[in-house]
Order: sequence, then C-alpha cells, then structure tokens
Amino acid sequence: MSARKIIIDTDPGQDDAVAILLALASPEEIDVLGITAVAGNVPLTLTSKNARIVCELAGKPDTKVYEGCDRPMGRELVTAEHVHGKTGLNGPVLPAPIMKVEDQHAVNFIIDTLRAHDAGTVTLCPLGPLTNIGSAFEKAPDIIEKVQEIVLMGGAYFEVGNITPAAEFNIYVDPQAADIVFKSGAPIVVMPLDVTHKALVTKPRNDAFRNLGTKVGIAVAEMTDFFERFDKEKYGSDGAPLHDPCVTAYLIQPELFSGRRINVEIETQSELTMGMTVADWWSVTGRAPNAIFIGDIDADGFFSLLAERLSRL
Ligand code: BDR
Ligand code: CA
Repeated sequence: MSARKIIIDTDPGQDDAVAILLALASPEEIDVLGITAVAGNVPLTLTSKNARIVCELAGKPDTKVYEGCDRPMGRELVTAEHVHGKTGLNGPVLPAPIMKVEDQHAVNFIIDTLRAHDAGTVTLCPLGPLTNIGSAFEKAPDIIEKVQEIVLMGGAYFEVGNITPAAEFNIYVDPQAADIVFKSGAPIVVMPLDVTHKALVTKPRNDAFRNLGTKVGIAVAEMTDFFERFDKEKYGSDGAPLHDPCVTAYLIQPELFSGRRINVEIETQSELTMGMTVADWWSVTGRAPNAIFIGDIDADGFFSLLAERLSRL
C-alpha cells in the first residue's frame, strides 16, 4: 500500500513534537505533504518556529512548514505556557531553526493542496485548536470531499476537561472552528483525553527513549521530563500523557486503538461549558454519528512503536 498523504496541523508543544517525529520517521506509511502551524499552546510565531526546530531535529529540513491563523475564529487566544513552558518546547536545548517558513498562508496551502488531489485522498491531522482547518472549510467548502479522514487530538467524554472542568484545551481554544469541523460531514477519528490519559510516559518508557542514545531519543526524553511535572502534580499520575502522538500512531497501527462511532457536538454557547465535546457514547440522542471516538489504547504497543520509529531518526 502506498503511504497515506497527510497534512499535520499543529501547535508544538512537546507532545506535538513527538507526533511529528513519529510521522517523519515513518515514510512507508505516511507522506507528510506539509506542516501547518496554528496558535495554541503558545503564540503562532513560536509554534511555527517549534515546528521547524522539530523537522530539523528529525533530519528532515525539506519538510514544508506554513504559518496559519494567529488567533481563534471568534474568541481571544488562550495559551498553555503553564503546561509547555515559555517557548512551548521547554526541556531540551535545541538550536534555532535554519529552515524558513513557506510564503503561503497555511489556510491557502490546505485549500490548494486538497483541490489538487482526488476526492477522499488527503488525511488531515490536527494536533491543536482547529482554527486553520475550520477557516479552510469555511472559505472553501468544496475541499471537504477531498478529505480521506480527519484524525484529530481533542475533546473528552469520561475525562471531561483539562483547561476548564468541562473542556479539553484544543477544542476550548476554538470551539467555533471545532463546530465547523464536526459538522463538516468529513470522516473524523477523535483521540480524546479518555484515550490519551492511558498513554502515560512512565519512567521505564521514558528511559527507553533516552537509552536510544540518539539526539532524537534524548531530546524526546528531556521534553517529557519537563512536560510531565504538570500532569504528575495535577492528576497524581505516573507520567505525562503523550496526547498528540496517538494521532500519528493511529495512521501507522490503527489496531492499537478501539472506540465507537458516535455523535459528537461542540458547545459554542455557554461560557460555563464552552468547548465541551458532547459525546453520545451511550447512543441516547438518536443524533447521527459523525465521528469515531476512541476510548482505549494498547499502551505498551504504542510505546514500543514510538521507541522503534524514533530509533530510525
Ligand atoms: C492538547 O492540548 C495541548 O496542550 C497538547 O499539545 C494537546 O494537543 C491536550 O489537551
Ligand atoms: Ca497540541
């Protein structure tokens, strides 16, 4: 089978970085057409810079990186330096990128790329707020039929929220964009907190990255060392959840994951529950399913895949 063509839409973020590294390490399964940066964990200038730092860390400086939206569609930007640090990529010391950002705006890159492909042939992988994708769908609804699948990290049902009691960060930051995406009719696979909180980087798992002894393995271990302090303190867990790599791992080994095809709606009205993913897990509404909502993961298999692929870089 030929490699699946994808666009990674991202706000790096240490876990975004690992998701990108996993994709770039897997050319047999994944063909990265471009990486589009969006404002999220940190402002756009930093997410764009971090995306390029990660491509260079992977030894893939030819990867095309585009800058997209610097704020959500209808709200003020909320960032997460309290989790990811001031740069968004705190932890390892990595050189400033030499790679330049592409001239084209990310939203136009998404539109032009999808228009240039046959129906159902490009997969979108959003790892941050859905602003770039929502804006592209709003501007050019004709591109929706070109999407093979949207595999995204966002939302929660059983775990409810992480940035507010009701909402997960990526959806909370731009609920209007998320609403456009979930109503688009494109096939969607959701990696919510319900599954990412089962993908914990315990000490032995982080040691496995460090023991690769490579620049990439050590950098990933140092990213996690930084990132995990927040979740350990908050949840009392054994390590940080590696949220975003669930998306790229799904493209390589979907059998590591299981979930249900259900209806998911986005709260866009109430300030109290803004950005909540109202997931009809128990099929009580009769609303038509619009997404596969993942609930479980073979965590050992996931971490073996990660260590094996990162060792290739
Ligand atoms: C999501 O928010 C960000 O902090 C992470 O990179 C991930 O995409 C988890 O809620
Ligand atoms: Ca992210």
